Amino acid sequence: MKSILFVCLGNICRSPIAEGVARALIEEGGHGITVDSAGTGSWHVGEAPCKHSVSVARNHDIDISHLRARQVKKADFNTFDVIVALDQSNYRDLEALGCRNLVKLGDYGYNGADVPDPYFFDGFEGFEHVYTMIESCVKELLKR
Ligand code: 4NP
Repeated sequence: MKSILFVCLGNICRSPIAEGVARALIEEGGHGITVDSAGTGSWHVGEAPCKHSVSVARNHDIDISHLRARQVKKADFNTFDVIVALDQSNYRDLEALGCRNLVKLGDYGYNGADVPDPYFFDGFEGFEHVYTMIESCVKELLKR
């Protein structure tokens, strides 16, 4: 595995955390893997990650504030070895776009569970859980 693309809905809450966590682990481990993230939707293209995602990552010494949202494109399915969906709805949308090199993050240690969509969370609560789940699954993914 040489390159990984994490995909959620907006590319402002969950997949930027996954990108940041993966990049930090890859730098530590010298895996030499390229990592990026994108959203299936276009609403937030060009935006920085949401403030709670930036905060929760910073609490773990990871800076994701410079990331900017982009929409996934079909060319990504050839560019990246693995496309990682953050939830089942993202998985279905990517499948419908023709993505075949597709996995679901929750399959790496969480029995296929969805990473909950924090966009409608009330405040910061819930983001630590999202972070913990993402970190654990990304670690497992990088072992494969
Ligand atoms: P994300 O969260 O998919 O984790 O980036 C969301 C961001 C925006 C929206 C939904 C989820 N939205 O509906 O705009």
